[in-house]
Amino acid sequence: MKITVVGAGNVGATCAHVLAEKDFANEIVLLDIKEGLSQGKSLDIWQTGPVDNFDTRLKGVTGDYSKTSGSDIVIITSGLPRKPGMSRDDLIATNAGIVKTVTENVIKHSPETILIIVSNPLDVMTYCAYLTAKIDSSRVFGMAGILDTARFRTFVSGALDISPKDIQAMLLGGHGDTMVPLPRFSTVAGIPLTDLLPKEKIESIVERTKKGGGEIVNLLGTSAWYAPGAAAAQMAEAIAKDQKRIFPCCVLLKGEYGLKDIFLGVPVKLGRRGIEEIIELKLNADEMKLLQSSAKAVKEVMEVLDKMAVVA
Ligand code: NAI
Ligand code: 2OP
Repeated sequence: MKITVVGAGNVGATCAHVLAEKDFANEIVLLDIKEGLSQGKSLDIWQTGPVDNFDTRLKGVTGDYSKTSGSDIVIITSGLPRKPGMSRDDLIATNAGIVKTVTENVIKHSPETILIIVSNPLDVMTYCAYLTAKIDSSRVFGMAGILDTARFRTFVSGALDISPKDIQAMLLGGHGDTMVPLPRFSTVAGIPLTDLLPKEKIESIVERTKKGGGEIVNLLGTSAWYAPGAAAAQMAEAIAKDQKRIFPCCVLLKGEYGLKDIFLGVPVKLGRRGIEEIIELKLNADEMKLLQSSAKAVKEVMEVLDKMAVVA
């Protein structure tokens, strides 16, 4: 199993580190355009192997895609992170150019790979990679839902003083302020969350989750990386081990939820073939309305990308 992580910044390096600690890949290639960055970080991560007991080998390269050749999975984290006052959508022009170039190079050297996109604005960058890669949509998808549900689960864990391991959560929609956390589909050891917390508390957790990325940007002056890196690594693990896990991922919808030609977060079965199934939840009218409004917001940004004609 060979995995390439493009972008050796905060998210990419964290992801490579978490992947190495999981010890299921033979080789991880970390690629960046900044001279020395990926070499330095991959050497440092590799040197945790004797301490943390993993066999995975790490290699850093500066812009040399030939070294990524034959990757089974490629995780794209290259691009600018969000700064205070910046929306995810402000990043579109710069990051679309980066994601397009990176995807072209990756597919040239690993035509059979599965692509996991992390760069923001996530839904639209996943669309950009899909247009560029020209491969089946089961092999191009984005990471956001695992991160957003992790935030939701963390806040529930705090509110109930319960281990996050026992908290399951589901969430739909775009990776932005319109995301749709679904308390009705969230449980604690099988007990509906709605039986355990008052409505107002759940609403405040939903709101905090929706603004979870911004909360960290305001504290750090840049966006989060520990949870995003771990979330992307969890997706790669599910694929590599053919775990068939159910996660919310950003995927191309072809009529599911009454939506098509749009990349949006929905629950999927993730295995060795990538997106093996899209799961349709039975939403009530309020949930469906929120999903449609999230889809509208994402579609508008997809149209901005179309108008920019970044991808021919
Ligand atoms: P960072 O600035 O720490 O790292 C980005 C890296 O990409 C830099 O090292 C840069 O040199 C590299 N890069 C830029 N252009 C490149 C190119 N053409 N080829 C190869 N490498 C290139 O940023 P960070 O914090 O790692 O964030 C990365 C991206 O992930 C951002 O767009 C951020 O908004 C996004 N993000 C997405 C999340 C999600 O839930 N989907 C969560 C957190 C961040
Ligand atoms: C996050 O949600 C900014 O997308 C990034 O942390």
